[in-house]
Amino acid sequence: MITSSFDILKWANSSNIAIGAFNVYNFEGVKAVVEGAEQEGVPVIIQMHPASLERGSRSLIAMALEAARLSTVSISVHLDHIDRIASVSEGIDAGITSFMPDGSRYDYDENIEFTKLCAQEIRSIGGFVEGELGRLSGSEDNVTISDYQAFLTDPLLVDDYVSKARINALAICIGNIHGKYESEPNLDFPRLYKIRETTELPLVMHGASGLSDEMVSQCVRAGISKFNVNTELRQAYISGITEAVNHNITDLLSIMNLCVSKMRDMVVLKIRQYSLQ
Ligand code: 13P
Repeated sequence: MITSSFDILKWANSSNIAIGAFNVYNFEGVKAVVEGAEQEGVPVIIQMHPASLERGSRSLIAMALEAARLSTVSISVHLDHIDRIASVSEGIDAGITSFMPDGSRYDYDENIEFTKLCAQEIRSIGGFVEGELGRLSGSEDNVTISDYQAFLTDPLLVDDYVSKARINALAICIGNIHGKYESEPNLDFPRLYKIRETTELPLVMHGASGLSDEMVSQCVRAGISKFNVNTELRQAYISGITEAVNHNITDLLSIMNLCVSKMRDMVVLKIRQYSLQ
């Protein structure tokens, strides 16, 4: 059944677990996330990145919303990394009520301004707003240690940011990065504990691909309620295609089913990871 991100994160909080938010690009992605969630009997968030919207646009949103409605578990549909205010109206027109306005590329005041403007419109329909304080690196290459430190979420700014930007969940930067970790992830847990002391809002970890079970459960205990996963799902999809090629499978439906099953297995693995105490 379709539900709001508010209800899903409230449920996660009362169950002391975190929610998987999975980025999808097409039908197979949507199907894999729904099937994985139904297999485990837990709520999930289906999310779409602006890049996937450029390809799938409103049809992709419509498909995700309908799949959520038809599902036996609670699912919300979320627009991830919105970088234009116009995307909020477009998303609302298409039936979305959950958004992440991404102001992290701006300086602090501009981030607040961008997020607040988006939040005004999202709140006018009773929607859910995730904001990011700090800036997630796509890669650590060419980033000096002092630059890297400057991108991390400053716990001293959290209270001010949350109240001015008027958000419902906070995406944090504690050494997590988008994409593949080239070496062991180095998460700044003391920083996370300080952030948690400052706000009771649900905390979100972007760049959740590649984190060990131990790191994930430490994050959940420290207050992370939502993990965003993209890279590992994409890798699972590609491994399905590679396997099809290697086994000379040429039937399209068989290839699609293989890709869905690889992604579903990944979704299940992640959901189990997020339920570890
Ligand atoms: P990964 O691609 O590292 O899994 O990150 C996904 C993400 O944070 C989407 O918002």
